[in-house]
Amino acid sequence: MEDKTDIEQIEIDLLLDAVERRHGYDFREYSRASLTRRLRRLRVDMKKEHISDLIPLVLYGQGVMESLVDGISVTVSEMFRDPYVFKMVREKIVPYLKTYPKVNIWVAGCATGEEVYSLAILFKEEEIYDRVQIYATDINEKSLKKAKAGIYSEDQTKTNTNNYYKSMGRESFNDYYFTKFHKVMMARDLMKNVVFLTHNLAVDRVFNEMQMIFCRNVLIYFSIPLQERVLKLFDDSLCKNGFLALGTKEHIRFSKTEKSFRTVGKKEKIFQKIMPRAGA
Ligand SMILES: C[S@@+](CC[C@H](N)C(=O)[O-])C[C@H]1O[C@@H](n2cnc3c(N)ncnc32)[C@H](O)[C@@H]1O
Repeated sequence: MEDKTDIEQIEIDLLLDAVERRHGYDFREYSRASLTRRLRRLRVDMKKEHISDLIPLVLYGQGVMESLVDGISVTVSEMFRDPYVFKMVREKIVPYLKTYPKVNIWVAGCATGEEVYSLAILFKEEEIYDRVQIYATDINEKSLKKAKAGIYSEDQTKTNTNNYYKSMGRESFNDYYFTKFHKVMMARDLMKNVVFLTHNLAVDRVFNEMQMIFCRNVLIYFSIPLQERVLKLFDDSLCKNGFLALGTKEHIRFSKTEKSFRTVGKKEKIFQKIMPRAGA
């Protein structure tokens, strides 16, 4: 239970109100423990004595929101993260997606794009990429710029390569990038059917008629009411029989949208929408 007299929490409440009223970003429903840790770190990075010293920057500063959003968000990612999830997508979901002439995929909370390139590779190998359109969204502009560039540190390559083979990748992973000055640059043709867009799950609207939504390791940072909002957004955005992939620590269990879905992969956290939208 949050202590209402805790000064740091009062400062955080005031800061989050200022952020929402001045810039429209709503972090008030993020889980407090993680948010507090991130704001403490941001205060130190910005060389401020108190978290409330960030409020004048939010009210009067120029271009401060990009750093603030970046400071608040956790953007850790890797390619083919949890390889067994991508294996299931390849083996169980793609055959179903192949029945559609056009396939819309939404990767919500795409961070620096690793998941997006993983899917592009998978769809290419399964010969469905030409009819896929991927909408890759995030709240964090800095991450989106990195995602669009598709340039990563060479240090991540070993993990990414191992994940790719564990996910039943069919080709040679190094065919999908080239290396220059210790940086890995993803092949341009993987970006062909991808659009990167700013979208805030806490306040923005649906994407219509998606065949699949990936939103992995994002809900974990949200309070239960915000998770409810986002799950409803996904329910409204998916076509009937569309799929939802969540992070391995996330679930639709006990949510209001639970009854709209059936579980396809319990461990993989992949669900299929079985009920049409109300009014659809
Ligand atoms: C840990 S990363 C997940 C990356 C990737 N999906 C994965 O599982 O590897 C969480 C991402 O969620 C994004 N995020 C946080 N709040 C968001 C919001 N309200 N709307 C959209 N994205 C958000 C963060 O900016 C961050 O990039």
